[in-house]
Amino acid sequence: MGAAPFLLLLFFLSVATPLSASPGEDLHLLEFKRTLRNSAALDATWVGGGDPCDRKKAWRGVDCSDSGYRNVSAVLLMNLGLSGDVDVTALGKLQSLRILGLENNSFTGTMPEVNRLSYLKSLFLSGNQFSGEIPPDYFGKMGSLKKLHLARNGFSGSIPPSLAQLHNLMELFLQNNEFTGPIPDLEQATLHYVNVSFNNLHGEIPANLARFGASAFQGNPDLCGTVVGKPCQTAAAAAAAAAPGSSGSMTKWVILGVVVGILLVTILFKAKKKDDDFTMLRKENLDEVIQVNVPSTVRRSASSRRGSFSGSRRGNDGGSTSSKRSSQHGRSSNDLVVINEDKGFFGLQDLMKAAAEVLGNGGLGSSYKAVMANGVAVVVKRMRDMNKLNKEAFETEIRKLGKIKHRNILPPLAFHFRKEEKLLVTEYIPRGSLLFLLHGDRGIGHAELNWGTRLKIIKGIGRGMAFLHTEFANYELPHGNLKSSNVLLSHNYDPLLTDYALFALISNTQSVQALFAYKSPEAILYQQLSPKSDVYCLGIVILEIMTGKFPSQYLSNQKGGTDIVQGTKTAIGEGRAAELIDPELSGGATAEAVEQMERMLRIGASCTESEPAKRMEMKEVIRNIEEIKA
Ligand SMILES: *[C@@H]1O[C@H](CO)[C@@H](O)[C@H](O)[C@H]1NC(C)=O
Ligand SMILES: *[C@@H]1O[C@H](CO)[C@@H](O)[C@H](O)[C@H]1NC(C)=O
Ligand SMILES: *[C@@H]1O[C@H](CO)[C@@H](O)[C@H](O)[C@H]1NC(C)=O
Repeated sequence: MGAAPFLLLLFFLSVATPLSASPGEDLHLLEFKRTLRNSAALDATWVGGGDPCDRKKAWRGVDCSDSGYRNVSAVLLMNLGLSGDVDVTALGKLQSLRILGLENNSFTGTMPEVNRLSYLKSLFLSGNQFSGEIPPDYFGKMGSLKKLHLARNGFSGSIPPSLAQLHNLMELFLQNNEFTGPIPDLEQATLHYVNVSFNNLHGEIPANLARFGASAFQGNPDLCGTVVGKPCQTAAAAAAAAAPGSSGSMTKWVILGVVVGILLVTILFKAKKKDDDFTMLRKENLDEVIQVNVPSTVRRSASSRRGSFSGSRRGNDGGSTSSKRSSQHGRSSNDLVVINEDKGFFGLQDLMKAAAEVLGNGGLGSSYKAVMANGVAVVVKRMRDMNKLNKEAFETEIRKLGKIKHRNILPPLAFHFRKEEKLLVTEYIPRGSLLFLLHGDRGIGHAELNWGTRLKIIKGIGRGMAFLHTEFANYELPHGNLKSSNVLLSHNYDPLLTDYALFALISNTQSVQALFAYKSPEAILYQQLSPKSDVYCLGIVILEIMTGKFPSQYLSNQKGGTDIVQGTKTAIGEGRAAELIDPELSGGATAEAVEQMERMLRIGASCTESEPAKRMEMKEVIRNIEEIKA
């Protein structure tokens, strides 16, 4: 009994070497390597006694987290021709391991017991020769799993129903296996990618998975559902077939090129447990049913270059009458006006085949993603309170926005104007928003957000803002709604600004106040706005990127998140600005790099000065940003 504290002390003395891998992690990794075959590619760096987390001599495929100790958080051994056994027991000793990737190797046999690593967030096993059945309850204890990639293997049997219990699941890659049986009901609102194509599945495609589009289900001849153009013989399908205007069969539709049908998609969103600021923000008001309808008989006229699209929205209690009514609107009121043909022309046919997915509900309205049959994915934004201008003036304004060609600005592609409803269509950008990347899933994506990438993002945002401030120099708010959720990222992390220059269109005071510029101190205190309010918003984004923290300024009640404006001010005042920089950036960086990061932080701080007069002009901010080097 009495010896215990002493032993504990000894233990600490022997292991407490901060900022190195925790004791033994090298040994655990080597133990894991022992049962691999063809692992010569690891020999050079995986050396006993070494530190797998040593930044100067990193172990191949090993990534580490910071937490006083640096612990192994990811093992990513892709494309190495590895085979042999996956020693799950050895991996289980790596307490911080969250990501396991063995994609594109030559592993065989049944699914290893990776489910013993119950805290894994990402499991990438695609492109091997695994086979056999995965037990039905296999995933029951893997509640943290967000990404599961098992594509291009030989898995057979049913898709494990326990996948439905993974409340955080975002990506599910099961394509090109030999799965049989039905697709389980996966109702997670978190899912944003599902692919089960090229298996031997049969039965009905669950309604809430239809949003992933036909290509996610192809190569399964026995699957049925509207999304694959092969209705199942159910009551719902019969009802749809009886709807007015859809008397023609699918074949007729294809042959005549006449659009027949009504339903795009119905999405049920269930409010889920809220566990952090980010999900809180994202899931506000998502508890609703949304239905988007396309009128039943409209012929496409190639010369008119117009398609049709009409949406209607109803609460949980609404019947289908409202949707039928809207589907009978005359053609003129249903026009989808294409104003930018960079992504080609699209119209009713394309949108009809598309399945929609709710992306979020912002202050100005809700957004949906629709993947069209031609593979082009678009975002349809349904805007509230946009009746300040009549149709002509609205069109002129939107066309102005649509004409913009700048590598950091995402222009609208099409719009729809009816008194009750405005829709704005833009290209869908798969990587998603900066908000999502910074705070959504602190997995792989985050590790890629190194200093060079973040600087590139800030510079791109700056260039986009500079352009808007020139183009719309006479506008009170040239952007008006800059925040990380309105910055999308291309595949190579070029930022794209959206939701800009809408201030002039919005009629309702409450909606106008949903613009983030209204969170600037001068707007809150004196209802004053100017292009300097955009400078404030840019400052918030810069601080957010540099600290990696979720700004409390984004939340309506400011409860939660971090007050990065005050935090930065205080830290700079006390001469400890460097401490605020996201440790994933500053850790291991050279003194020069940290100095550049600090300069960027100071730019963000000066943009968020509470008095507009003390803030730099946008041009000057951009000049300062451009001087910073990676
Ligand atoms: C990292 O490893 C140390 C030592 O094993 C442990 O005390 C610490 O909790 C680990 N950190 C995390 C985040 O798991
Ligand atoms: C694995 O191989 C596939 C097909 O060759 C490729 O598309 C994919 O990018 C590879 N994955 C990785 C992580 O390299
Ligand atoms: C699903 O996977 C198949 C096969 O790899 C591919 O052709 C298809 O484009 C994928 N669908 C989606 C939506 O990514």
